[in-house]
Amino acid sequence: MKNCTYIKYIIFTLLFSLPLFAEPIEILKIVNPPVARISEENVISVVVEVQSAAIDSIVISNDMNETFHLSVNSSRTHYCKKINLHLGENNISVNAYKGATLVKQEKQTVFLTSKVHKEYRYPPNKYSTNFFHNNTNEKVCSKCHDMSVNEVPGVAFEDISKSNCYKCHSTLASKKHAHAPAVNWLCTSCHNGKVGIYNQADKNKSKYTYPDPIRDVCFSCHEKNKNKWSKKRFNHEPAESGRCNKCHNSHSEQSEFYLRTPAWELCTGCHKDKIEGVHIVRTFTSIRHPTHNKKDPSRPGKDLSCISCHNPHASNASSLLVDDTVHGLCTRCHEK
Ligand code: HEC
Ligand code: HEC
Ligand code: HEC
Ligand code: HEC
Ligand code: HEC
Ligand code: HEC
Ligand code: HEC
Ligand code: HEC
Repeated sequence: MKNCTYIKYIIFTLLFSLPLFAEPIEILKIVNPPVARISEENVISVVVEVQSAAIDSIVISNDMNETFHLSVNSSRTHYCKKINLHLGENNISVNAYKGATLVKQEKQTVFLTSKVHKEYRYPPNKYSTNFFHNNTNEKVCSKCHDMSVNEVPGVAFEDISKSNCYKCHSTLASKKHAHAPAVNWLCTSCHNGKVGIYNQADKNKSKYTYPDPIRDVCFSCHEKNKNKWSKKRFNHEPAESGRCNKCHNSHSEQSEFYLRTPAWELCTGCHKDKIEGVHIVRTFTSIRHPTHNKKDPSRPGKDLSCISCHNPHASNASSLLVDDTVHGLCTRCHEK
């Protein structure tokens, strides 16, 4: 009886694996991105596998009118191109041509999320995180790319193009303000493969997960900040709960301190009701104190914003004021 089930099992397995062996290479197949991936970075790698005898060029395009022409040579099976994404749903299409004839078209969608803009925070249900760095995926690339980690912990690359990660992720640290560990390609200082209380479900899904909350990783290098903030009486919820990456991009950003947007936009993303500044001057009349679009008299060269009056992390004063008293705060910018 036992043997019989065993033989049935073998026949079953053979039957269903045979067609797989026989599967011909398709003319064009999108290897990456997978179906409906959620992306947290505004660049994604398009990798296609082709039957090189059947076509002689590929055109990859996004829905921002960017197109890339790649010519196909007879010996190469895979073609790769990084393309830009915009917030929300992105349509990527890949066309394969023989001469001027369109031989095949393949499409894929990707959703770029945002931690700042509420309308892009939660992608529609069909999208999922879909991590890339597992053994199955890496095996495909390793025919041509070195997939190993070649960073020495704490030692910056003299030539960053020598980092194995750089070859595929080169745009990551290229925005105006770049964070030291990212720009030195010490990627695994944060992407240590661990998970935290908020991303338990990601455990073992990728070699390069990071623990969420990320705080302890940040504090491993920013110990001074840890010590300073832990002594304060009041802490700002998103910082205290360790979600430093809600406000800071860990890699690079257009704004200083790698803030995801300039401070005012960042704060009002979560505190819309404070835009009008009605909360600032408490009298019987509801004076609207400006919160932006003015110069900040207390910080020469900077614009007035929420952080002119509030510390984004911690403070000894209630409402996270940058001064110990409300009176002291007003007199930073106004004569008594
Ligand atoms: C047949 C060899 C081959 C395979 C397999 C391959 N690549 Fe590439 N890839 C290359 C070459 C060669 C380049 C350099 C640019 C070029 O010549 O197209 C490259 C460049 C890239 C780039 C940079 C593109 C850009 O726009 O800067 C990325 C990202 C990339 N590959 C990702 C991948 C991923 C992910 C896989 C596996 C799913 C993969 N590649 C599989 C050969 C390959
Ligand atoms: C052959 C190209 C390639 C190389 C080399 C590579 N990556 Fe990736 N990586 C990808 C692709 C493709 C994705 C999926 C997102 C995308 O399409 O850009 C990705 C995603 C990631 C992610 C998001 C988590 C995940 O698994 O999806 C992290 C973190 C990451 N890479 C870190 C690294 C680090 C660190 C290195 C160097 C040790 C590295 N990568 C080397 C192609 C590559
Ligand atoms: C200071 C910590 C830190 C460093 C250093 C760092 N990362 Fe990240 N990375 C993160 C965090 C946190 C996220 C999660 C998304 C976010 O907060 O924007 C992330 C997200 C990513 C993503 C997007 C994941 C997705 O699903 O779309 C990729 C790709 C990535 N990192 C690759 C790298 C590479 C390559 C390096 C090395 C140059 C690197 N990271 C260095 C903290 C870091
Ligand atoms: C591997 C060490 C390391 C890790 C991990 C790390 N940082 Fe940094 N960070 C640095 C270095 C080095 C600098 C540049 C020197 C400096 O200004 O302190 C820096 C600078 C910064 C700055 C700018 C400081 C300034 O005054 O200009 C911010 C903001 C910052 N990091 C935030 C973070 C956040 C948020 C995390 C966690 C997601 C983090 N860092 C994780 C090493 C690290
Ligand atoms: C609510 C948004 C927000 C959160 C959450 C946040 N930060 Fe910041 N961070 C800012 C802003 C805004 C600045 C710029 C402050 C300024 O210009 O005075 C800043 C500046 C910094 C600086 C440089 C200036 C300094 O005070 O040393 C460091 C380092 C830093 N943050 C680290 C972190 C770490 C680590 C965490 C997580 C524990 C974190 N931040 C969480 C908004 C945030
Ligand atoms: C990711 C969402 C988020 C962002 C971004 C954010 N906050 Fe908050 N903030 C909160 C939450 C949650 C609380 C606690 C609950 C509440 O009071 O609404 C809070 C509380 C506060 C408080 C009241 C603290 C107290 O002790 O009464 C101040 C002041 C404040 N935030 C200022 C800021 C400033 C300034 C910025 C921009 C640098 C900012 N917030 C960005 C979520 C955010
Ligand atoms: C000119 C200084 C100033 C500016 C600019 C300012 N605030 Fe305030 N904020 C205050 C003062 C003063 C209080 C009240 C302190 C008290 O009464 O204890 C306060 C209180 C708060 C509180 C907590 C109390 C409450 O009513 O919920 C939040 C949250 C807050 N501000 C967010 C913001 C945000 C977001 C911005 C930017 C849009 C901003 N503030 C701009 C001075 C300022
Ligand atoms: C970081 C600097 C700063 C701080 C702190 C500050 N203010 Fe102002 N305040 C300004 C600026 C800038 C203006 C606009 C001046 C102009 O229009 O030229 C302004 C305008 C005002 C006005 C006139 C509003 C109107 O309707 O025209 C009043 C009243 C006022 N502030 C009261 C206060 C009080 C009370 C405090 C303390 C709770 C305070 N301010 C804290 C910068 C500040």
